[in-house]
Amino acid sequence: MSERILICVAWPYANGSVHIGQVAGAYLPADIFARYHRAKGDEVLMVSGSDEHGTPVTLRAEQEGKTPAQVADYYHRDFLDTWQRLGISYDLFTHTETANHKEVVQDIFLKLLAQKYIYTETTSQAFCPKCARFLADRYVEGTCPHCKSTGARGDQCEACGKPLNPQDLIGARCRTCGTAPVYKDTEHFFLKLSAFNDRLLEWIKKQDFWRQNVLNFSTRYLEDGLKDRAITRDLDWGIPVPVKGYENKRIYVWFDAVIGYLSATKEWAKSTGHAEKWQDFWQADTRSYYFIGKDNIAFHTIIWPAILMGYGGLNLPFDVPANEFLTIEGKKVSTSRNWAVWLPDYLNNYAPDPLRYVLSANMPETNDTDFSWREYVRRNNDELVATYGNLVHRVLTFTYKNFEGKVPVAEPKDEQSRQLMSLASEVFGEVDGLLANCNFRQALKRSMELAHAANRYLDEKAPWKTIKQDRQAAADALYTAISVISILKTLLYPFLPFSSQKLHEYLGFQGEVESAPWKIDLPKPGQLLRQPQALFTKYDDEIIEKETQKLGH
Ligand code: MF3
Ligand code: ZN
Repeated sequence: MSERILICVAWPYANGSVHIGQVAGAYLPADIFARYHRAKGDEVLMVSGSDEHGTPVTLRAEQEGKTPAQVADYYHRDFLDTWQRLGISYDLFTHTETANHKEVVQDIFLKLLAQKYIYTETTSQAFCPKCARFLADRYVEGTCPHCKSTGARGDQCEACGKPLNPQDLIGARCRTCGTAPVYKDTEHFFLKLSAFNDRLLEWIKKQDFWRQNVLNFSTRYLEDGLKDRAITRDLDWGIPVPVKGYENKRIYVWFDAVIGYLSATKEWAKSTGHAEKWQDFWQADTRSYYFIGKDNIAFHTIIWPAILMGYGGLNLPFDVPANEFLTIEGKKVSTSRNWAVWLPDYLNNYAPDPLRYVLSANMPETNDTDFSWREYVRRNNDELVATYGNLVHRVLTFTYKNFEGKVPVAEPKDEQSRQLMSLASEVFGEVDGLLANCNFRQALKRSMELAHAANRYLDEKAPWKTIKQDRQAAADALYTAISVISILKTLLYPFLPFSSQKLHEYLGFQGEVESAPWKIDLPKPGQLLRQPQALFTKYDDEIIEKETQKLGH
């Protein structure tokens, strides 16, 4: 039975290009999941957009002497280009400066205000006497009151992941000049998170199928007790507060960003000509999945659900399969120190599928994992080229040459062939279940084990030898191998869409691999093949040195 699946993907701040940590953390798992469900014939909507507000963008604009809008526009385009080249298949990738988004955010703000889930309060806000301005949360730094790590920011501690207020920091100072801030009175709107504490806890306790880290973090967070949070700021970049007398304030970036999942769905629905279709994904039976990095958990399992509960009548998240972090060559990613692999740079030099492969094989699903260029080259050469690519290449070129460019006519009945085919159908079922449960790493591993088994089978059958004495035996072996290759084409499609498209064509199938169904779909004996070419290219070890050199400079 076909299902409806809403895939919500973290919105990148439009203040810099995408790096591979974000790809492994959120965008790639979301894309694998979307491709899998589309192939199954499910109704999928995958949305995200550029997160254009907040201090990450204003800071960058300040540094570059540009307006926040210029910076946001630039990176929004940059992201769109990256998704296309990397094959991240959003149904809509919008941004937070659209009129539609503003309307949806202000509507939610006003409804929560009317229901008293948003209220005003005068608070003291950090003000730097030297810089003579109010300091946004991110402009205040100090020691985290929870985990005591230094260098925590006033919005969040990166070390323990807890959202903070600048006042919570021990030894707070202005990020720009190092002066200790003073606190001045200013009036802000607060989201009454405390009103949702019990309902959230009750709800979270029912999500026993969530990843352990997500569940533990969220439960602990709620058991500590929620504090109300200010959701406006003294800024001029962002969504205006829709209340008279507050023209100089803007809605806090996190409040507007999470609402993007809903506003993007509405924008998508309008673009299809059926504006009311957003309801299918938010009010009808739908599973919504949120693909995010672990630093965003609280916003998606607590704050966004609280907003949804307050608003009423909208679906809560079904699952939040947050990933852990990807380190690079053993060190934490640092965009300011350029300890990162940037996607535009990567895509200028290499094909997308090897990166998708390496990041999937090593996806930080249950613990932090590391990316190294040595491992990238090794996996490409040993696994993509020598195992999968070689299987495909030797079978297809030999068949193409010796069987008039057609799938051999065969009916393999021998034990080895039967065993390989039964392994293939077992793996198919297993991988199906693993993908449905967002165990992408294991799904890829099992698929590659099937490729290994097919290589062993071929080595034993050696059709290039038997063809001389027993043409039918060679035909049987090649037919069996082609069948497994065809199954691998399907299983690996969510991971390696570009390679599966090529293989789809070499095998003589018509149309886009995208529209091929998720099932064991064997080529027919006699089906016309197309002249095959290598799916992958072997890398020289030189690139290890060349790429590692770029880090940290
Ligand atoms: N821009 C945020 C970050 O990069 C993520 C926002 S996810 C959202 O950490 F959905 F809330 F937008
Ligand atoms: Zn200062």
